[in-house]
Amino acid sequence: MKEKIDIQKIDNQISEFKPSDIENHNKSSFTHYLHNHKNGVSKFYKKNAISYVKEELKKEYPTEKITNKIAEEALQYFIFDLKDSVPFAAPEKPTFKFIDLFAGIGGFRLALQNIGGKCVFTSEWDKYSKHTYKANFGEIPFGDITKPETKNYIPDNFDVLCAGFPCQAFSIAGRRGGFEDTRGTLFFDVAEIIRKKKPKAVFLENVKGLRNHDKGKTLATILNVLREDLNYYVPEPQVLNAKEFGVPQNRERIFIVGFRKDLGINDFQYPEPSEEKVVLEDVLEEKEVSVKYYLSTQYLQTLREHRARHESKGNGFGYEIIPNEGTANAVVCGGMGRERNLVLDERLTNFKPITNITGKVNREGIRKMTPREWARLQGFPDKFKIVVSDAQAYKQFGNSVAVPAIQATAEKIIEKLNHA
Ligand SMILES: C[S@@+](CC[C@H](N)C(=O)[O-])C[C@H]1O[C@@H](n2cnc3c(N)ncnc32)[C@H](O)[C@@H]1O
Repeated sequence: MKEKIDIQKIDNQISEFKPSDIENHNKSSFTHYLHNHKNGVSKFYKKNAISYVKEELKKEYPTEKITNKIAEEALQYFIFDLKDSVPFAAPEKPTFKFIDLFAGIGGFRLALQNIGGKCVFTSEWDKYSKHTYKANFGEIPFGDITKPETKNYIPDNFDVLCAGFPCQAFSIAGRRGGFEDTRGTLFFDVAEIIRKKKPKAVFLENVKGLRNHDKGKTLATILNVLREDLNYYVPEPQVLNAKEFGVPQNRERIFIVGFRKDLGINDFQYPEPSEEKVVLEDVLEEKEVSVKYYLSTQYLQTLREHRARHESKGNGFGYEIIPNEGTANAVVCGGMGRERNLVLDERLTNFKPITNITGKVNREGIRKMTPREWARLQGFPDKFKIVVSDAQAYKQFGNSVAVPAIQATAEKIIEKLNHA
C-alpha cells in the first residue's frame, strides 16, 4: 500500500483551508502537531493528527486499508514540507512557551513570537479569523474554549497564558466574587485553565471600560479570583495607549499581568511609553488606493449632516477627517458587545487630496482607510496576509490588539520570569 500512496495528492487538500476545517479538531491537532514537533508538545496532538491524515488518505484511497503506521509515516512527510510555508513561523530557538486564547487573528501571537516565544495552543471560534490565522501562522485554532473537549487539547507546562477575552458581568450580588461566582462567563473558562495548568504568568487584555464595568465589580472579581483563588501576584492593572508604543492610534486598553506566587515575583513595572513619534501619514498606502474606498458625495453629505445634528446635541458622530500628521481614534469592532457605544470602524476616514476621481465619488479625496492601513494602525507588518473580505478584515483588525503595546508588556513579563 505504501508504494501506492502519492502524498502530493493529499498535500493540496491538507494545505488549503476549507470550511469543513472549522470544526475539525483533528485538523487543528494536525496543524498544531506540525508546528510543535521540535518542542515535545507535539505528543499531545499526535493521536488526532494521525487520525486526520488517515481520514484524508481514506478519502483519496477508499478501497485501500490505511493503517496507523502508514498514516504516521505520511505525517512525517508534512513535517519536512513545513519549512518557510507561512509568513510568521515560530522562532528557531524559542525561549518560552505560551498559549493564545481568544486568539482572533493572532495579535498576541505575533508580539510574543517576536520576543522568542513559541505558541503551543490556540483557540478561536470565528471561521474567518481562523482562516486569517492559518494563512499567517500555519495553525488552525481549536474552537469554542468553553467546551471541555477543546480545553483537553491544551498541553501542560507552558509559561504564559495570553487572553484578550470579552468582558461580561458576573452575578455576584452580596457575595465575595470568587471563582465559582464567575461561572458561565468566559473569564471563568480562563480561570479554570489557569487553575488546571498553572502557567508561570498570565497576560490578560480588555477594554478600558472594564474598570467601571458593573460599577467596578467585574474587575474587582477578576483580581480577587486571580489573587486569592488562583494564587497569583497581580500588580495594579494598567491602561496603556497604543499611540505611545509606535502606532498612530489612540487606543486605550487595560492590561492585567499576573505571576504565580511561588515564583517570588513581587513587583512589576509596565513598559514606559516609547519616544518614537508616528503619525497617520506613516501608515497610509504608498500607492493610490482603489476608488471603492472613497466616499460618494451623497454619503459624505449624509455623514456631515448627521454629525452637525449630533454635535449640536453634544454627541460626537462616528466619523472624522484625520489630518495626515494626526492620530486615528481607536479602530473598533461594533459586533463584539465590547464597545457598543463607540463609532463604527468603517467610518474612519482621512483627508488626502486626489485629482482623478470622476462620477459620484467625492472630489475632496475623503476616503475610508483600507484594511492594510488598519493593519498598520495596529502594528501588523505588511507581510501579514489579508485573506478575507474587507468587511471581515476591518472586523478582525478592529477586534485585535495593538501589537507593539502587547510586545512591550510581554518583554517586561519575560524579563521578570527570566530573573525569577
Ligand atoms: C477581542 S477579540 C481578541 C482578538 C485577539 N487578541 C487578536 O489579536 O486578534 C476576542 C475573540 O474571542 C473570540 N471568542 C469569543 N468567544 C469565544 C469562545 N467561546 N471560544 C473561542 N473564541 C471565542 C471572538 O471570536 C474574538 O475573535
